[in-house]
Amino acid sequence: METDKESIGSLKQQLAKLFEESLRAAFPDISDVPPLVAICNDPKNGDYQCNNAMSLWNKIKGKGTQFKGPQPVGKAIVENLPGSDMIENCSIAGPGFINIVLARQWIAKSVQKMLIDGIETWAPKLPVKRTVVDFSSPNIAKEMHVGHLRSTIIGDTLARMLEFSNVEVLRRNHVGDWGTQFGMLIEFLFEKFPNWEAGSTPAIGDLEAFYKASKQRFDSDPDFKERAQKAVVSLQGGEEKYRKAWAQICEISRKEFQKVYERLGVHLEEKGESFYNPYIPKALELLNEKGLIEESEGARVIFIEGKKIPLIVVKRDGGFNYASTDLTALWYRLNEEKADWMIYVTDIGQREHFEMFFSAAKRAGWLPSNENDYPKASHVGFGLVLGEDGKRFRTRSTEVVKLVDLLDEAKSRCKLALEERGKAKEWTAEELDQTAEAVGYGAVKYADLKNNRLTNYTFNFDQMLSDKGNTAVYLLYAHARICSIIRKSGRDIEELKKSGAMDLAHQDERMLGLHLLQFPEIVEEACTNLLPNLLCEYLYKLSEDFTKFYTNCQVVGSAEETSRLLLCEATAVVMRKCFHLLGITPVYKI
Ligand code: ARG
Repeated sequence: METDKESIGSLKQQLAKLFEESLRAAFPDISDVPPLVAICNDPKNGDYQCNNAMSLWNKIKGKGTQFKGPQPVGKAIVENLPGSDMIENCSIAGPGFINIVLARQWIAKSVQKMLIDGIETWAPKLPVKRTVVDFSSPNIAKEMHVGHLRSTIIGDTLARMLEFSNVEVLRRNHVGDWGTQFGMLIEFLFEKFPNWEAGSTPAIGDLEAFYKASKQRFDSDPDFKERAQKAVVSLQGGEEKYRKAWAQICEISRKEFQKVYERLGVHLEEKGESFYNPYIPKALELLNEKGLIEESEGARVIFIEGKKIPLIVVKRDGGFNYASTDLTALWYRLNEEKADWMIYVTDIGQREHFEMFFSAAKRAGWLPSNENDYPKASHVGFGLVLGEDGKRFRTRSTEVVKLVDLLDEAKSRCKLALEERGKAKEWTAEELDQTAEAVGYGAVKYADLKNNRLTNYTFNFDQMLSDKGNTAVYLLYAHARICSIIRKSGRDIEELKKSGAMDLAHQDERMLGLHLLQFPEIVEEACTNLLPNLLCEYLYKLSEDFTKFYTNCQVVGSAEETSRLLLCEATAVVMRKCFHLLGITPVYKI
């Protein structure tokens, strides 16, 4: 099969292109009614729908047109469609809906083409070139908690989906490494360890305890408070002793964070709050020149329409804060990094903060006032992780759950389950360990990602590690089963891809093929709406469609063996891509 390897865009995009052409041919004077292509609500009517005859009719009626209503308009659109083997037939329903049935042969051909050219040719096309995904972003001297786990998992998936869509992604770890809290921490450490620079460095657990203790001292001891405030000045003034201590503290935390990232297979580039510090005066000056900054109760603030409390950008003591840093980082990302989409992943508790500084940026003209125009800034908020008791997820011993412990437990539970199924005898120790890790970590990630991120979800090991229902375990096993069907057939799948032909004669084959073809538009939708759960829903539905096909269509030993094996392979390829986008490692045998 001769193919070109360019990304072809989603099915919707391909159909929209055909309908645009027909529109230009049938209604050359009208250019502002883009075809709205959507999946048919009721598959009985067709596979897709194009809904623009009504709006077209509204444009032309009463202006001496020959058309008598939306139905004939729809008919004209259909008649002017360019020749394409994509569409089997179109019918017009209701007020000019055009129902589209795709050609079975075209579906088969497209699936096979993907098998030959690679799934990258199914990358959706997005209207952005470079995005910043600001995620994970824990705070120095504090342990990463379950909220940061959500940010890391969701942010990584969004970054992966955008990268797959050929968007350049700057993965930014906006760590909390600056601010007045470091004054008290450093002062406390100097007091506790007079030889701190020479001595051994504290562990992260200690650091966190020191942090809490220093806060207590700060609140209760005015003398300490004064020294801590002086320490901030020394630190921000660049005094070496203070800088060194600060850098050392950051390094301890960084190493700890890195352990979690390595386990999760997530990579990020740290540009913490301190990175933007030198740029703050300039950014604030730009805002000031626009007349945005005002004096209020001794602080310098920006008033935001519809908000009672203004956004403070310079505190009463002259110091900068979270908002000054974020405004500056936004300026930097827009002007220095030339990003056209800035995405921030944090808990919904911070929504107000983001709304406020996005509004300030709009007032300054840094961002367009229309939400849908680029450059764009989006806050990706998420809900809480709850424990079985319905309260914020905690363990008995510590206040917050340690991430590393969670991952360890998921893995060891999986290992146990595999051993119970006799895998320790069948597999090497390494295989057992790798599978337990892939399934265990995958389960934790998937349990998070499958929920609409705005809702709270309950962390439950038994549920997420079940091999039934919508879990990573079920899906990973489903994929492994498909791989084993192909392996056991004894056929050379690489050879079949090129020489074999696909035909999707059975209804369940056609449905599965169509569903595979919808993968690009799901990724597109998940990216556009910043909703990874859409991809999870797709993946789950795909495995259900596969089960249906496999139940009703014999694969090995049937007359259609070649075609059906190719369909199995295509399902496995798409499932693997979904896993990859969700940051989950696939397994090949169970
Ligand atoms: N460090 C913050 C926290 O732990 C999250 C930072 C998010 N990113 C940002 N640009 N504000 O809550």
